[in-house]
Amino acid sequence: MPLVNTTEMFKKAYEGGYAIGAFNVNNMEIVQGITEAAKEVNAPLILQVSSGARKYANHTYLMKLIEAAIIETNLPIAVHLDHGDSFELCKSCIDGGFTSVMIDGSHLPFEENIALTKKVVEYAHERGVTVEGELGRLAGIEDAVNVSEEDAQFTRPEEVEEFVSRTGVDSLAIAIGTSHGAYKFKGEAKLRFDILEEIQKRLPGFPIVLHGASSVIPEYVDTINKYGGQMPGAKGVPEDMLRKAASMAVCKINIDSDLRLAMTSTIRKVFAENPSEFDPRKYLGPAREEIKKLVKHKLINVLGCAGKA
Ligand code: G3H
Ligand code: 13P
Ligand code: ZN
Repeated sequence: MPLVNTTEMFKKAYEGGYAIGAFNVNNMEIVQGITEAAKEVNAPLILQVSSGARKYANHTYLMKLIEAAIIETNLPIAVHLDHGDSFELCKSCIDGGFTSVMIDGSHLPFEENIALTKKVVEYAHERGVTVEGELGRLAGIEDAVNVSEEDAQFTRPEEVEEFVSRTGVDSLAIAIGTSHGAYKFKGEAKLRFDILEEIQKRLPGFPIVLHGASSVIPEYVDTINKYGGQMPGAKGVPEDMLRKAASMAVCKINIDSDLRLAMTSTIRKVFAENPSEFDPRKYLGPAREEIKKLVKHKLINVLGCAGKA
């Protein structure tokens, strides 16, 4: 099975009331943990690469790891650029074999976001590559984007039809209260399902994307803190909210922080239990296993995409 774009998987996900997991990859153990989980439960996958991941691991290494995962799993897998911030970066990923890209113009004025997104769509579609755009701004910190809570903005439903029709994007990321990273909510978790519903009404059948969708699994945070970490107040999106979003128009759910927590908590535990350990396989191996366990749980119980490959 060759790499696929997201068209077919989103169509089936929308009709089936489930979502595809879009997991961020940075190294071999993460790619293996995610794809082994998907193989065991027969789920389609999006493996996404941020510009930071691409700088860290190198485009060719990541592509070859993903190609190896295709050979090992025979699953429909899309390789997607996460938070592309320029036409040049999107073009370089498309030319280098990505089957899907995100152009994140959410920080730009509406007309500039449209112009940039449209330019990427034209280049991508001529080459069979799908494009995700974004309207609204999530709070939170990633390598390339740092948005304070004051600068975050919910998506305005009255803008979505014009944005989608003028740009030609294949999916739209929206801001309804999630944020990037491990500190999403200070008090009670709250997502604006009313905004999602309004967008769904205005764009019937159109795939919506939810960023910042890690649940910040409390067991991982507890383990990190038990073994010397300091993550007080880390809080994510409850799983029942993600299930609800997946049953609506949300076809792609982005998860990175939970993978980081799975990996870090496992490695901290290994070192706490065996301070003289120095063989990387003895801590990266268990971290890979924990990622696999976590992703299987997400695919089966949260996203609902097990058995849909
Ligand atoms: O939303 C972004 C992802 O969590 C990627 O983060 O830019 O630090 O690789 P990164
Ligand atoms: P989390 O930080 O909640 O995992 O979000 C990841 C994400 O949105 C990647 O684009
Ligand atoms: Zn994101």
